[in-house]
Amino acid sequence: MPAVVIIGSQWGDEGKGKITDYYAEKADIVVRFQGGNNAGHTVVIGEETYKFHLIPSGTIQNKQVIIGNGCVIDPKVLLQEIELLKSKNFKIDLKISSNAHVIFPYHNLLDGLEEKFKGKLSAGTTKRGIGPCYQDKIARFGIKIFDLLHEDILRTKLEQNVMLKQKLLEIYKDKTILNKEKLIHEFLEYGEKLRPYVNETPYFINKALDEHKKILFEGAQGALLSIDHGIYPRTTSSNTCSGGACTGAGVGPTRINKVIGVMKAYLSRVGTGPVPTEIIGENEEIANHIREKGHEYGTTTGRPRRIGWLDLVAVKYARMISNIDAIAITKLDTLGGLEKLKICIAYMIENEKKETDIMPTNMLENCEPIYIEMQGWEDKSPDEWNKIAEKGYGAIPENMKGYLNKIQDYLKIPFCLISIGPRRADTIQLQKIF
Ligand code: IMP
Repeated sequence: MPAVVIIGSQWGDEGKGKITDYYAEKADIVVRFQGGNNAGHTVVIGEETYKFHLIPSGTIQNKQVIIGNGCVIDPKVLLQEIELLKSKNFKIDLKISSNAHVIFPYHNLLDGLEEKFKGKLSAGTTKRGIGPCYQDKIARFGIKIFDLLHEDILRTKLEQNVMLKQKLLEIYKDKTILNKEKLIHEFLEYGEKLRPYVNETPYFINKALDEHKKILFEGAQGALLSIDHGIYPRTTSSNTCSGGACTGAGVGPTRINKVIGVMKAYLSRVGTGPVPTEIIGENEEIANHIREKGHEYGTTTGRPRRIGWLDLVAVKYARMISNIDAIAITKLDTLGGLEKLKICIAYMIENEKKETDIMPTNMLENCEPIYIEMQGWEDKSPDEWNKIAEKGYGAIPENMKGYLNKIQDYLKIPFCLISIGPRRADTIQLQKIF
């Protein structure tokens, strides 16, 4: 299995960082293929917690890591992450695609202004400039990593961009004056610092596949945030599905051997938009309990995440659009201590008085979840969960097995991994991927 894609099968924050780190042990290379520093990947090793936004999670396994052409890069953030890793004595074996696009400060500024302007239609973005940077890419105004290494190109492109963005800022009644020369100077400096890492990454990746190297493609965000298949316009601006790995890294679809969907045992959402299974109103205490226990606060923005019951209609949809082969389920321990658990298995579309298990991407706000109720399992201490993980699947609580069986019956795909705690050792592997 030389090429495995790991993606989120919900609204992001499913625990992809931990799963990628876990499987990266056996991989040679870890590649990110979309998104930017809107992502937040948390990896816990021993007593240390590492949070990354851009660098692929495999880096703390000292693996070769690649930021692919499909990503958008804020060079300042990337350089800070590189410095942090160096200070902790990690090996930095990083390659950055010359074709990845660059986030400029005006993108961050416009992200906030656009959100405000959109009002009810805003997505609640991370305000990291992701959307505006991808807009420039698609409109072919974008500035790529390559351009930071060539002053003449950077100058020509920035001249146009600064002029246009200045007008846009005026339209949004923002008083910031963009300083083109300062930007040129600052970004050429970033370019120089990044130069040693810049690479024609598709050649590197495809050659590695020819040599049967094991590659993990690490997705960011989740299926329902996909620009093409998500709950538009409350999405991110990149393709979060497995297909994104092909375009975002430069590999053909038939080179991908396996797709792993990461799924949390419940769900969470940061940002706006409909979440049919959100736990609100009289059950808010349950949501608060899960949020606190599961540390459900944004890695990037610190925002409290909205909490919901597991929505299998949504995961089944994610399974289809990404052809997920196996599920890695996370945070089962977080649900410990809840007497009853709910799983959404269909929706009732209000206006049409019709039941469906097809994801109504355009009218999710009109959907009422139809639940089955399951028995919960007892709460345990982190050490107790750890001991269970050591013993393996047979040792997990019976009701947890019931919960997992129900999910498997519905999705008709196996679990490859069960995570019952944040650390590597709190993991039960059911399927090897390499
Ligand atoms: P953007 O990607 O910052 O433009 O934000 C667009 C939408 O995606 C917003 O609803 C964000 O909250 C959401 N989003 C972006 N990145 C993440 C992530 O890593 N985890 C969860 N949600 C995210």
